[in-house]
Amino acid sequence: MGPVSYESAHGIAVITVDSPPVNALSQPVREGIIDAIAELNADVPARAAVLRCAGRTFIAGADIAEFDAPLKAPSFADVIEALEGARTFVVAAIHGAALGGGLETAFGCDYRCASESARVGFPEVNLGLIPGAGGTQRLPRLVGVERALQMILSGRPIAAGEARAMGVIDEIIEGDLLEGALAFAERLVAQGGPRRRIRELDVAPVDNLDALVAGQRARIARSARGFQAPQRAIAAIEAAVRLPIDEGLEREWELFEQSRTGVQSKAQRHLFFAQREVSKIPDIPRDTRKRNVERIAVIGAGTMGSAIAMACANGGFPVSLIESSEDNLQRGLEYIRKTYEAQVGKGRMSAAESDERVSLIGHGTAYEAASDADLVIEAVFEDLAVKKEVFSALEGVCKHGAILATNTSTLDVDAIAASTARPADVIGLHFFAPANIMRLLEIVRGRETGKDVIATAFQVAKRLRKVGVLVGVCFGFVGNRMVLPYVREAQQLVLEGVAPNRIDAIAYDWGMAMGPLAVLDLSGIDIFYHIVAAWADRPDDPSYGWLVNELFALGRLGQKTGRGVYRYDGRKPIPDDEIMALAAAAAERYGVQRRDVSDAEILQRLFYPMINEGAALLDEGIAIRPGDIDVIWTNGFGFPAYRGGPMMCADQLGVAAVRDRLAEYADRLGDRYAPSPLLERLARQGATFAAWSR
Ligand code: 3HC
Ligand code: NAI
Repeated sequence: MGPVSYESAHGIAVITVDSPPVNALSQPVREGIIDAIAELNADVPARAAVLRCAGRTFIAGADIAEFDAPLKAPSFADVIEALEGARTFVVAAIHGAALGGGLETAFGCDYRCASESARVGFPEVNLGLIPGAGGTQRLPRLVGVERALQMILSGRPIAAGEARAMGVIDEIIEGDLLEGALAFAERLVAQGGPRRRIRELDVAPVDNLDALVAGQRARIARSARGFQAPQRAIAAIEAAVRLPIDEGLEREWELFEQSRTGVQSKAQRHLFFAQREVSKIPDIPRDTRKRNVERIAVIGAGTMGSAIAMACANGGFPVSLIESSEDNLQRGLEYIRKTYEAQVGKGRMSAAESDERVSLIGHGTAYEAASDADLVIEAVFEDLAVKKEVFSALEGVCKHGAILATNTSTLDVDAIAASTARPADVIGLHFFAPANIMRLLEIVRGRETGKDVIATAFQVAKRLRKVGVLVGVCFGFVGNRMVLPYVREAQQLVLEGVAPNRIDAIAYDWGMAMGPLAVLDLSGIDIFYHIVAAWADRPDDPSYGWLVNELFALGRLGQKTGRGVYRYDGRKPIPDDEIMALAAAAAERYGVQRRDVSDAEILQRLFYPMINEGAALLDEGIAIRPGDIDVIWTNGFGFPAYRGGPMMCADQLGVAAVRDRLAEYADRLGDRYAPSPLLERLARQGATFAAWSR
């Protein structure tokens, strides 16, 4: 039996799509729907049909696993045409989510009803795509151009109630969806329909289309800098206004195919699957029993601890925030209050929500406040002795089965675990600053960390709306270990005579959220200084991190002191000639030759050593999959999603080409560029990271 079935018992036929997990509009489903409509056409007693889905959702979109190859017939358009051309009318019955091609299929139906909890939307832009089955042409006909632009460009689904108010959904069904949909169809039959094809509607006139389109293009150029799909979606929606429907549909298809076959969508589809893969850990079965986490304690109310407490409250957890002194505690609580107030001020949450979150954060100055916590997150100074002390004290206080987590960025989680008698309960939860905002969470697996503890950490990450990625223990774990060569190269380039603002502009134009040197100033020169100072295996090179060292010595700590790599006018960075003078003197001291460096070399020098480090992390088993590294960089370090992450970039550039360039740099500039063994192996085999597995 295929994934689509047809039943006709009471004069209303029921077409059911049953294609787990999410009823994607795959080739067999497309064929199945067309066959079912042919049955409906031949089934003369049937006076209407309901199209519905089994399982957890309505059609959640096209099957994007099919998108790497040319799409096989029947096309999406064939499905919609079959529905629109059916002998009698069809009612879509939506539960779960009707997304992308799913909503477009529902738009091929005459009517749409939905359960109250359903959501509908066009998330295609998140995959580097535009709707390709008529969504850009039919949505404006239903809701007008402005709302269509809003819905398609945001990619955000809306709730059934809102969709009902906009006219996207005709009827909300309380109770059993199929029963309600059948009753709805019967009422329509009784009143004689009418047939309602969205394609026959006119788009409501727009006052000044040129200005609207130009405005949206400019807005998107800022908010989705570098992404092609939203600009194409605007062009397709514009075509809905300017062209008759069939020409508009053709234009949409052209733009859809440009997107589907382009590298940006390939990258974003890779990230979609990689993000679903990260929580699958080879030796930890899905059904591993998780520990119950209801209450969290956070130790240390500094920069990280305060923000982690907010992240936990935002996820609905009651939190106890524990400090060493009342003064420090009050400073942390004040920061929390101010941050929430600012969010209310910006309209990001209501005053009531802010009050509710603040009320979830209890506090104290004694470890006893952590006695009822199921999870304790330590965020005290980055000092192994202090952390060990905290963990051994926690051991005496925390209840049996509590998970003890450290937010260390660089210290040895195994050494911390060894300071307790329950190392299986110890794990790293490495948040990124600001922890209440950043989505990435590195989950650090110690030698003895329990599998149930890891499985629970993923579950907590999900509740905190973070992307958890499992990494192994090493200095800097995955993200920061790859930052080290990136930031080193940026400093090295300055030493060779390249201006910081040129380096940052090249990285920014390539798609990074910020250039590497601007990041130093934002995070704090002192943070980088201390990280490198604590690194036992730091390269034996006197020029290593020269700029950070000199700025630290000068007290130029970045944005917080108004001077770092740049001078600051408010938050605006201003290039500072003094840096070039420092660089000239340092170059002479270290015997570094000053020269013209091309833009292409700057890009390679920034990103190839980073890729090389990623390969080493895979070889060492610190990162599980190349896709995990890509998820880390796109969620935690402002790496452009449309490039898919550093390891996907390596595949796009060609692993052998990356290896060759690194080998040339190694000859010219030193061993630190030497291709790592995995990069070398893949290059020799003509292989890719995408196809690599341990
Ligand atoms: N194609 C192929 N596989 C898909 C898929 C899709 N559109 N959507 C989800 N899946 C797979 C996932 O990879 C996952 O597989 P796995 O179990 O092997 O890891 C499985 O379905 C379940 O997915 P989730 O883990 O994401 O399940 P959730 O219950 O958390 O979420 C969902 C369900 C909200 C439907 C979510 O999966 C989702 O947002 N999916 C993508 C929706 C989307 O982007 N649709 C538009 C596609 S493009 C399109 O339609 C083009 C058209 O205009 C022509
Ligand atoms: P911080 O110096 O701002 O805060 C540390 C806080 O811990 C201080 O308020 C201090 O009073 C408190 N503290 C010290 N000993 C304590 C104890 N025994 N009991 C209770 N409180 C105690 O430091 P920050 O930046 O918040 O860093 C904390 C941890 O987070 C470190 O391990 C750091 O490496 C890590 N981290 C920091 C990031 C950052 O960007 N700042 C990013 C990711 C991790």
